[in-house]
Amino acid sequence: MSPADRVLELRRLIDHYGYCYHVLDQPEITDAEYDWLYDELVRLEAENPELLIPESPTQRVGVAPANGFAEVIHREAMLSLDKTTDAAGINEWMNRTRKLVGDGALLSFTCEPKIDGVAVALVYEHGRLVQAATRGDGERGEDVTTNVRTIKTIPLHLHGDDVPARIEIRGEVYMSHQDFERFNQQALARGERTLVNPRNGAAGSLRQLDPTLTAARPLSMFSYSLGWVEGGWQPESHFQVLEKLRQWRLRVSPLIENVQDAEGAMEYLQRLEARRDSLGYDIDGAVLKVDSLVLQRQLGALSRTPRWALAFKFAAEEATTRVVGVDFQVGRTGSITPVARLEPVFVGGVTVSNATLHNIDEVVRLDLRMGDTVMIRRAGDVIPQVMAVILAKRPADAESIVLPANCPVCGSTVERAEEEAVARCTGSANVCMAQRKEGLRHFASRRAMDIEGLGDKLIDALVDGGLVRTAADIYHLDLETLASLPRMAEKSGNNLLAAIERSCQTTLQRFIFALGIRDVGEATALNLARHFGSMDAVIDASDETLQTVEDVGPVVASRVFAFFSSAENRAAVAELRRAGVRWKDHPPLVTTSAANHVLPLTGQTWVLTGTLESMPRDDAKTRLEALGAKVAGSVSAKTHTVVAGPGAGSKLAKAESLGVQILDEAAFLAVLNSFG
Ligand code: IVH
Repeated sequence: MSPADRVLELRRLIDHYGYCYHVLDQPEITDAEYDWLYDELVRLEAENPELLIPESPTQRVGVAPANGFAEVIHREAMLSLDKTTDAAGINEWMNRTRKLVGDGALLSFTCEPKIDGVAVALVYEHGRLVQAATRGDGERGEDVTTNVRTIKTIPLHLHGDDVPARIEIRGEVYMSHQDFERFNQQALARGERTLVNPRNGAAGSLRQLDPTLTAARPLSMFSYSLGWVEGGWQPESHFQVLEKLRQWRLRVSPLIENVQDAEGAMEYLQRLEARRDSLGYDIDGAVLKVDSLVLQRQLGALSRTPRWALAFKFAAEEATTRVVGVDFQVGRTGSITPVARLEPVFVGGVTVSNATLHNIDEVVRLDLRMGDTVMIRRAGDVIPQVMAVILAKRPADAESIVLPANCPVCGSTVERAEEEAVARCTGSANVCMAQRKEGLRHFASRRAMDIEGLGDKLIDALVDGGLVRTAADIYHLDLETLASLPRMAEKSGNNLLAAIERSCQTTLQRFIFALGIRDVGEATALNLARHFGSMDAVIDASDETLQTVEDVGPVVASRVFAFFSSAENRAAVAELRRAGVRWKDHPPLVTTSAANHVLPLTGQTWVLTGTLESMPRDDAKTRLEALGAKVAGSVSAKTHTVVAGPGAGSKLAKAESLGVQILDEAAFLAVLNSFG
């Protein structure tokens, strides 16, 4: 294809995808994919200047306002950012900048998270918010004042007696992960369309014509710069601006730092990227800015990007790809989970070829068909998810996906209890090899019996070879049997036997958890262990007694009761004990306070909020409970301590207002460690 043809094609595609994104709120490609097209067009136009026309999408910064909102002409254009994805790009930019400002100038840079939301410009007159506008195409945006007024992190009045007469402040409006998920859950419950991603949610909400709908979609904002000022204030540095914005009670990211050189910037970027998934909101990189505003002015701007700033983009967490098949996986409790097989695609830093579809309702909700193009997302270590189907790309003959009537592994019928999202294979672990293997995997897992070295492949080989049927069989394995397996040498066999032997000494909580009773997670296992004190007492407990255990309702009680009503399950427990598995019985929980005071945190109520980096929140809860604390979901005057990780929001604010003790993660770990 000639450059002229390709340029035409790119313009058509970019206009189309821009329209889908900005006007319809229904993106058909990811931001990263859009950027590739856009960058290619910029490159081709630069190489072939005769092809450049004023109507090219590269000649404006975004998309012109849609109908419905009044137009706002920006007094100063809202520019876009030049970007890089590697250290070389940063070096180059810094060297170029140094050359431009001259040797004598004192050059330092601020590094800040690049919030993945929607840029807005706020105008305050005598401290009062009078106008809020979207960026639009950079020159003209939309007047979204009424919608922006519903955003609680944006002050309607600036606080302080040094607020200039008129000032424009810029920042990014975004939707936090928590708010995004809550919104989608509610939308699901009402049978309404869900949001594709938080940014789409923020953009769509801001551009709602009915402000009550915006208010129902919780948004937040971080302010990151000054547009223009009237009234004498002449700040010298970007850092100083941010400080002032904070004083006026605008929200400014706490993660902004000053660096001197490329090395400092890279170090910042590494730290930021490591925290990316625990921030509680999306960032797509960082922005580096020359700190001195005098130098910023001196450096100036190119047609759409300033010379004094550079965006560093992290790997995209979203991608589009095609669904080439759907498999149904059978879990430990027979649950049938549809899994999408994908054309491999690079996303979130790895190549992905599967994505979970959770349950058949999700398939229906997405209206997913075979051969569909989908948008997928992989953030951190979370399993890749299918976010949306791109209907515009559906092949004409795309077949529907139906729940199989029989288990794909054992052929037993698949049933779905009323009111349950999950369908299950009705065969037991006796008939269904998938359930058997998953049950053994769970039994051996780190948080259960913790048998190091007994991994997925080995369990497959042991079960397929008929060497292990029940958990107790694991404890009868010998070196000769193990050595007969593929890829198993004497040394690894001995190591495994030693690990099996070590696992014999366990705790009652771990043992109960390891049994894999449906709906009995670690926390419930702990409550059962504490309440009953011994395995026999749990086995003999009636349904009614089980319901008196903390946090155990009728459903969980009936699961535990049904589990131990089965002679086979009771025999399995007895077998394991005979095979040598043992634990110290828990000191029985007597509900008088005297006995309770044995534990150091008894009587205290703790609240966990935000993300913890060193352990899953459930683990933190289990550890606190093991020390006698109660872990609650909301903060009140009775709360003893709040542990606040990144992304903490209203609970943290409430704790602050009530004067409740607040610990960050490091302090929390120190408390845990002080109890050994
Ligand atoms: S400064 C002239 N700082 O990124 C540069 N932008 O790709 C003005 N963004 O339109 C932008 N976080 O919507 C700046 N800390 C930050 C930002 C940020 C997110 C967005 C903003 C801008 C886009 C440029």
